[in-house]
Amino acid sequence: MDASSEIQIDPREFRNTMGRFATGVTVITTEVDGQPHGMTANGFMSISLEPPLVLISVGNKARLNSLLPQSRRYGVSILSAEHEIYSRHFAGRPVEGLHIPFVRKKDLPVLADSIACIVANVVEIFPGGDHTLYLGQVEYLEYQEERPLLFYAGKYRQLDLTAEEKKSWADDAALLFSSMW
Ligand SMILES: Cc1cc2nc3c(=O)[nH]c(=O)nc-3n(C[C@H](O)[C@H](O)[C@H](O)COP(=O)(O)O)c2cc1C
Repeated sequence: MDASSEIQIDPREFRNTMGRFATGVTVITTEVDGQPHGMTANGFMSISLEPPLVLISVGNKARLNSLLPQSRRYGVSILSAEHEIYSRHFAGRPVEGLHIPFVRKKDLPVLADSIACIVANVVEIFPGGDHTLYLGQVEYLEYQEERPLLFYAGKYRQLDLTAEEKKSWADDAALLFSSMW
């Protein structure tokens, strides 16, 4: 079917409809010539358990799209509720003077204090209309129990935890802390 014979979908309506799919928020990072670069993205999903594969969707005009074919590696930092400012910063609204706490995992910069992070090697690149899809094989992962930043219907949101959930998460965090030291 050629593009001209496709049913016309209004882009705004499409965006509004897809915005009803609540997601977390990530910052995708990569590095070229020693320069880290980050981009806010919710176009992220897991694809396969064995082998462990993830997929990101990057706008063709995004700077990240010109960097990934060179670096062929990316980090995915899943943001906590406290890190909305990083999401804004890496979504084309740089906050002047903002300190970005990059840490290196598998020699790639990712954001410190994210609730989870993954480092992946690009194994396939697919065209996806005005976006490009980067399939990555996971080579590093870590996570911790923190409240995630959410994105729904075009707005940042937060999980409303019950008192019981808050206590259970605090207990988990205490357990993690005691097992580390
Ligand atoms: C919550 C949120 C999710 C986003 N998800 C994506 C995404 O999945 N893919 C993408 O290419 N851009 C996404 N964007 C837009 C990019 O972050 C934005 O266009 C950014 O400025 C592109 O990077 P650049 O300025 O370095 O070119 C998202 C923005 C926000 C606020």
